[in-house]
Amino acid sequence: MPKKDKIEKINEEEDKEADKIIDLLKDDILIFAQSLVKEYEIGDYIVRAIDNVDLRIKEGEFLVIKGPSGAGKTTLLNLLGGLDSPNKGTIYGHGVKFSDMEEESLATFRLLNSGFIFQNYNLISTLTAEENIIFVLRTAGVHFKEARKRAVHLLKKVGLGERREHLPFQLSAGEQQRVAIARALANDPPVILGDEITANLDKKNSEFIRDLFRDLKDLRKTIILATHDDRLIELADRVIFFDDGKIINEEKPDTTNIKK
Ligand SMILES: Nc1ncnc2c1ncn2[C@@H]1O[C@H](COP(=O)(O)OP(=O)(O)O)[C@@H](O)[C@H]1O
Ligand SMILES: [Mg+2]
Repeated sequence: MPKKDKIEKINEEEDKEADKIIDLLKDDILIFAQSLVKEYEIGDYIVRAIDNVDLRIKEGEFLVIKGPSGAGKTTLLNLLGGLDSPNKGTIYGHGVKFSDMEEESLATFRLLNSGFIFQNYNLISTLTAEENIIFVLRTAGVHFKEARKRAVHLLKKVGLGERREHLPFQLSAGEQQRVAIARALANDPPVILGDEITANLDKKNSEFIRDLFRDLKDLRKTIILATHDDRLIELADRVIFFDDGKIINEEKPDTTNIKK
């Protein structure tokens, strides 16, 4: 192909891409995944963890992903939040196509857009509760004084104002998860992603976390949770049933009875 035609073709494709992004934003679609495939190779064996998934998530939506162990829920969350990249397919989010970004750009993208909460908290074991939060704020370029102020405020919000100097091993499971939630909220990301976040917690901590998520929903955060916890599912706008790497069903739960 002559160089001129090549440039025209690239321009044309870029225009198409821009039109698509404008269409998505017009419909309030914050995350748009198309024909997603994620495979893991173990020796000669290939596991297709995500098998041709299409998904649209609206801004401010509270989405729950349910499904048996091994269904691909964690893999899907990682793709939607930019922790991992698909083998095939595209994901648009926040007005950009991030499915084929290089790791460095993707890390910046995550820092600004996605707050992750994991089943096992994943706090940095050598940093105190406060330092775990300051760390992500500093990574995003927040000045130390401001970062410290925000970390203190966030820890108070999750009921841990008195636990700032504690290291993760000095905190209970529920307390560690609350620090992890504060960390996920640190840069005020528009999307919060959580992977079985109450699976290891007692009733009291699970209820505390449910209340935090109710507030986040009221703040119009976009929330994507893999969970089997009915307390969290009650808050959902939509529940997706996932199995064998595919969406097999989805429903909108009746949210009219939620206790305020
Ligand atoms: N890092 C990995 N390497 C190889 N296989 C993986 C990896 N992560 C997940 N898998 C496989 O992909 C499938 C989906 O896993 P996962 O997304 O963790 O499911 P779920 O969170 O629903 O339990 C499973 O068969 C799992 O064994
Ligand atoms: Mg999982």
